[in-house]
Amino acid sequence: MTGSRNPATGYSSVTARAYGKINVFLAVGPQMDDGYHELVTVFQSLDLSETVTLTVADSHAVSLTGRYADTTVPLDESNLALAAVLALAEATGTSVPVTVAIEKNVPVAGGMGGGSADAAAALLAYAHLIGCTDRELIGRVASSLGADVPFALRGGTALGTGRGDELNPVIHRGRFHWVLATSTGRLSTPEVYRRLDELRADAPSGPGAAEETADPAEVLRAISSGDPEALAGALHNDMTAAAVDLLPGLDHVMETGMRAGALAALVSGSGPTIGFLARDHTHALEIAVLLEASRGVRQVVRTTGPAGGARVVGMTSAE
Ligand code: C5P
Repeated sequence: MTGSRNPATGYSSVTARAYGKINVFLAVGPQMDDGYHELVTVFQSLDLSETVTLTVADSHAVSLTGRYADTTVPLDESNLALAAVLALAEATGTSVPVTVAIEKNVPVAGGMGGGSADAAAALLAYAHLIGCTDRELIGRVASSLGADVPFALRGGTALGTGRGDELNPVIHRGRFHWVLATSTGRLSTPEVYRRLDELRADAPSGPGAAEETADPAEVLRAISSGDPEALAGALHNDMTAAAVDLLPGLDHVMETGMRAGALAALVSGSGPTIGFLARDHTHALEIAVLLEASRGVRQVVRTTGPAGGARVVGMTSAE
């Protein structure tokens, strides 16, 4: 059905973009009744984007291109971009089948929110395609798709509580420079949460213990001043011990980046990607060169944050 269009808006295709993230502060509380853990987190979006193009078609289908067109990304209804389309279609009582073309430039399964960015971009693109302007409904659907999806929609810098999906804006100044080292190993997010619970049960005051670190004030001050040295001193991730326990090679990667002169090393979300904070562009280049040859590192990516939120970047109307 090439050239077909959605009668509600006249668009035959819509393209939207959303960005990956790093959690510059991540304090994990106890598991709640719904199985999720209570979080206090500070998200910073990064200038690595996922671009999703929806084109009206006879039936739903997913395709992948881009730097991280990884064979492990599902192409069926468990793909988060297609899941987003189906969830919004159901919530609005719409039935407009689309092909979903994803250009992936956020490392896959790295704790960097690439799947959530796919969901956010697809959600926004589908809302435009069908003419849905109900922001509250879109927000609710975003939350139902995953804890990080509301942030991927919003972008910038935000404080997240609850499952990480209750967001408050954060004042920020300037840009921070990051070097990311993706890992040759893999980590599953639920497994890292489980391991953290086990470590805490085994040794309540050991690595990963939930202490008085649940206060993001220092990180928020550093972000509002735009000072990378201050941010380096305040970065915090409760998941670090569990991620390193499951993938011991991460320790070596973190040490290598620090020896290369990084201001700080941080496990990104549940890992295994490690973020290294740099003073500026030149400093990031120096760290990246030294990390390239490090054991256990798959790819080295330089980026900056904060980036923006999900936005529509193109649309076509069929005549
Ligand atoms: O919401 P999302 O699908 O991204 O979360 C993936 C998994 O991470 C959840 O199924 C859950 O096991 C874990 N998680 C959690 N607490 C959170 C966020 C995620 O336990 N606040």
